[in-house]
Amino acid sequence: MTPAAYATINMRSVSHNIKKVREYAPRAKIMAVIKANAYGHGLLSIASELKDVDAFAVARVDEGIRLRKAGFTKRIIILEGFVCEEELQVIIKNNLDVVVHSLEQVDILEKYSTIKKISVWLKHDTGMNRLGFRINEFTSVYQRLMGCSNVNQSITLITHLSSADTNSPTTSEQIKIFNESVNNYSAEKSIANSAGIIAWPNSILDWVRPGLMLYGVSPFIENTGKEIGLEPVMSLYSRLIAVKDIEKGETVGYAGTWVSDKKTKIGVVSIGYGDGYPRYAQTGTPVLINGKRVPLIGRVSMDMITVDLSDQIDVKLGDKVMLWGDGLAVEEIAKYADTIPYTLLCGITPRVEMKKI
Ligand SMILES: Cc1ncc(COP(=O)(O)O)c(C=O)c1O
Repeated sequence: MTPAAYATINMRSVSHNIKKVREYAPRAKIMAVIKANAYGHGLLSIASELKDVDAFAVARVDEGIRLRKAGFTKRIIILEGFVCEEELQVIIKNNLDVVVHSLEQVDILEKYSTIKKISVWLKHDTGMNRLGFRINEFTSVYQRLMGCSNVNQSITLITHLSSADTNSPTTSEQIKIFNESVNNYSAEKSIANSAGIIAWPNSILDWVRPGLMLYGVSPFIENTGKEIGLEPVMSLYSRLIAVKDIEKGETVGYAGTWVSDKKTKIGVVSIGYGDGYPRYAQTGTPVLINGKRVPLIGRVSMDMITVDLSDQIDVKLGDKVMLWGDGLAVEEIAKYADTIPYTLLCGITPRVEMKKI
């Protein structure tokens, strides 16, 4: 029996997208960003497909432990680092690399005694103003870390771009600040996320850190992944569970926000915000039924959405409905829901069955 709501995860597309990363950054090492359950695609299955990358990045320690427990032996970088000695201990025990971004972390490292060497990625805040050391602290922190007997001496220097998905001058400024600060260090360096890799060649240094583009999705508002040569990995499906006619003047769904202006055939599809379909998808958001686009009407409920089937003659219960994926870009759906594709992909709930294809 097909589940009500499921997503296919196309592994060949993951490999295709990695090839694209290599085309953009042929000499760089790749740190595949697979945090947040690989952007909703399934941490372990995506990690298994990424055999050729040089490292994985996750946000938090528990994500790194999950990978280690599943037997992955690659370098795993914890992007948010640690907040206390106990967490550092767990990081060391699981042989995880750590991003160091605060003075408190440096204090802990200086006091912590271990024979194992910790691999550190030192974060420079060049304008995101989130994690990392400002220009005035960076050199002294680097020296302090080099003085720690428990820190592996090949510290990698990284920064994160705040606006690489636009043509804001901020990106060039951030790249300039970073290069000026780190020029004298022989250490490996890393700036580029997906938008950097695709649009800012100067941000491609020793390591690149692709996230969204691995999943075939564009980080830019003006185009889709397909349009820039990527292949979408996730396709989200459900099925039609009711078809009915409503009269002119009748409303559909909670709060009756959609009113019929003529006799209309409507369909009910078994997917809703309980599955991660966006609650704020507006009337008009397309879905695909039998390969044809039809518009969503009325409010998204927890388990269902309603669609206008006026232009669909041959529909029947059980027909497959695509909500986004290969043929209906998640980037387009994100615009209808006034959000970004990242939130849609990450927002898929455990109720949705994932099928590797
Ligand atoms: C430090 C860092 N590097 C790289 C990435 C990957 O970004 P993207 O998914 O836009 O490629 C992220 C994602 O948030 C990140 O936090």
